[in-house]
Order: sequence, then structure tokens, then C-alpha cells
Amino acid sequence: KKVVLAYSGGLDTSVILKWLQDEYKCEVVTFTADIGQGEELEPARAKAKAAGVKSIYIDDLREEFVRDFVFPMFRANTVYEGEYLLGTSIARPLIAKRLVEIARAEKADAISHGATGKGNDQVRFELGAYALMPNVKIIAPWREWDLTSREKLLAYADTHGIPVDFKKRKGESPFSMDANLLHISYEGGILEDPAAAPPEKGMWRLTVSPEKAPSKPELVELQFERGDLVAINGQRMKAHELLAELNRLGGKHGVGRLDLVENRYVGMKSRGCYETPGGTILLRAHRAIESLTLDREVAHLKDELMPRYASLVYNGYWWSPERTALQVLIDHTQERVNGTVTLKLFKGNVIITGRSSADSLFDAKIVTFEEDEGAYDQADAGGFIKLNALRMRIAASKAQAERPR
Ligand code: ARG
Ligand code: SIN
Repeated sequence: KKVVLAYSGGLDTSVILKWLQDEYKCEVVTFTADIGQGEELEPARAKAKAAGVKSIYIDDLREEFVRDFVFPMFRANTVYEGEYLLGTSIARPLIAKRLVEIARAEKADAISHGATGKGNDQVRFELGAYALMPNVKIIAPWREWDLTSREKLLAYADTHGIPVDFKKRKGESPFSMDANLLHISYEGGILEDPAAAPPEKGMWRLTVSPEKAPSKPELVELQFERGDLVAINGQRMKAHELLAELNRLGGKHGVGRLDLVENRYVGMKSRGCYETPGGTILLRAHRAIESLTLDREVAHLKDELMPRYASLVYNGYWWSPERTALQVLIDHTQERVNGTVTLKLFKGNVIITGRSSADSLFDAKIVTFEEDEGAYDQADAGGFIKLNALRMRIAASKAQAERPR
């Protein structure tokens, strides 16, 4: 028996590793991904080795993450419940895909993860895994074991010789965090009171507070091709490098902090704080280039479909047929979404200052307030309005006739 574990090297997944070995008496294969969480991965290898793991997978998935997951999602201008940029949600289907690939390569029967039974992540991992490997077995220790508190987890670690870092033991890192190239999320601890402001110290890691951001704005030029960012200030880079650079720029200017209460798929409300500096800039800039290059009805259709697409990503249906179908439509709309956006970053704000495109549908000759040399006949508008008013005029005259004197 063999199980592939999504392993971060942290306390929770280290306990899970040991627990799987003891409880299920199976060989554990560990999989650790670099998706830009900004942590050393070698410690995870050393810890897995020390725990007797023979097959250790450590993969750099940064480019795949941004190119095949983040960018396709941003083509749809995706936002959940009006605010959340889905930084955690969009990483889970990639982890699920890689878990399944490794399970196949290792001829393993099961996969395992460290998500709790209360959250969205379990759903995302498992829906993804089932969609890609219909007969996969899933072991979710948080739903099975009796290590229901931090103390019990620490006690288990101690009796089994699992190293616990000093901060964890002293409870100095009081948040449940998830980090990748798109965002960092913070939940739990003092944030569980939705009325309490997030602490300024010890939490935000990607951004300075807007108050402390430079008092001089910074100008940035972003270039898009087929709806994807391809260059920053004239410099072409790989997808993951572009997002890292946007994070640096946004972080420096206090862009992309968010504090919200959201509806989890499992039915409860949860309070989270998020910082998504690069994503916040990207969303604004993408909308700006679309404003020039998309047909009105296509743009509005995208806006109608977006909340649906966002729910699919949030709820873990990335690998579903309906998400795939929506993606084909969205990608088709992006064929002419090319051009350049200029913007200013200033104390938490992203201020668009210009956009230009060879595929622009903007026609200055038509829209001008000056003489338009016959490009548009204003007399046509009279009939256009009158016909659109027809049904309202009929209803109004009927109401007038029927009104008792
Ligand atoms: N609430 C967010 C979401 O559902 C973030 C979840 C963070 N996950 C974590 N394991 N810390 O996407
Ligand atoms: C967890 O429960 O493991 C994290 C939160 C979530 O998945 O929503």
C-alpha cells in the first residue's frame, strides 16, 4: 500500500506523514510544490528523509501555476463575492493534478492532504483528484483522527519525535496561512472575530500599509497579448516572473490588501484577510485593455458569466466540464485583447492613466464632441430612442385612458 501526501514540511503535514505510516501501515510518498510561497523547500526534503520517506517529489510549478491557472482565470476578470481574487482556490486544482500524476507514476492507491473537514480546500483537492483519477482513494486525516486541538497535535509531535519550531510551540504564528505567487491568506486566531481589525504587525507580508507607502506615485506600463500580460515596462518575461514583478511593485505601494467575510462552500461564513498585490493590478489593467478591444455585448456577457465562473473556481470545479466550456468561450473573446495599459501606483491605489491598442474599437471620429464629418448622423438617434420608448408610451397612454377622472 502506497499513499501520496501533499507535504509542506510544516507541523500539520509532518504529523500526518507519521500518522499515515503508523495508522495505515503504508509507504508514504511526499510531494512538495514550489508555487511561489517563498519558503525554502530543502527543509521539507530533509524532514521527509528523516521520516523514512523513499520517494520524495519536490517540483517547481511556478510557471505552470501562473500560465495555466492564474492567467486563464484573470482572462475572465474573476472575483468571488465581489472581492476575493481566489488566490488559494486557483492553486488547489494544480496540486490535485500533480498528486494524481505522482500516484500514477508511483502506482499508489491513495492520496492524502492536510486540509480540515471544515473548509473549501478539502473539496477542491478531492473534486480535482476524482475528476482526474476516478478510482483514487482519499485519506483526509483531519476528518478521521482525534487530534482535534493544537495541544493534541503538539503532544503527538512530541511523543513521535517530530520537530516543532519554536514559534509554533509558543503560538507566535497565530494565523492559518496559505501563500503562493498570487496571494497570501490569513484566517483564524484573532481574525475569528469579524469585528476586530487585523493587526498591523506580524501579519501582512507582501505589502506595506498604504500609510507607509511612498508619497510619490510610480508609473507602470503593462502590455497584453490575447488577454495575457506579456511585458512590464517594455520588458518581456515569463508568466511567473511577471506576476512576481507585479507583486513587488504592488507590495511597495500598499496595493491589494483585503479584509472580508466570505461564504465557504461547506455552508459557513469565514473571515479572511488577503494580500494580492500583483493580482489587484492585473485585474484593473486587464479590464482597461478589454474596455478598448472588446465588443460591448461580448464584454457584458463575460461580466454575466464571471460570478458563475468564480463560484466554480471557489467551489473546486476547475476540472469540471462546465468550467472547461466557459473557458473556451472566455479564451475566444480574448483573441484581440492586445495592447498597452499605463497606470499609476499610489498609496494602495491602482490608477489607470491610459490604454492603447492596434485592435482598438474606440473610434475618435465617431465619438468626438467636435464636427464628425458625417461619420455619425445624430438624426438617426431620434428614431432609435422613439422605437425603444414605444412599449413604455403604449403602457403610459393606456394607464392615462383608464385613470378615473
Ligand atoms: N478562504 C480562502 C479560500 O477558501 C483561503 C483558504 C486558505 N486555506 C488554507 N489552507 N489556509 O480560498
Ligand atoms: C482548511 O480548512 O484546511 C483551510 C480553510 C479552507 O479550506 O477553507
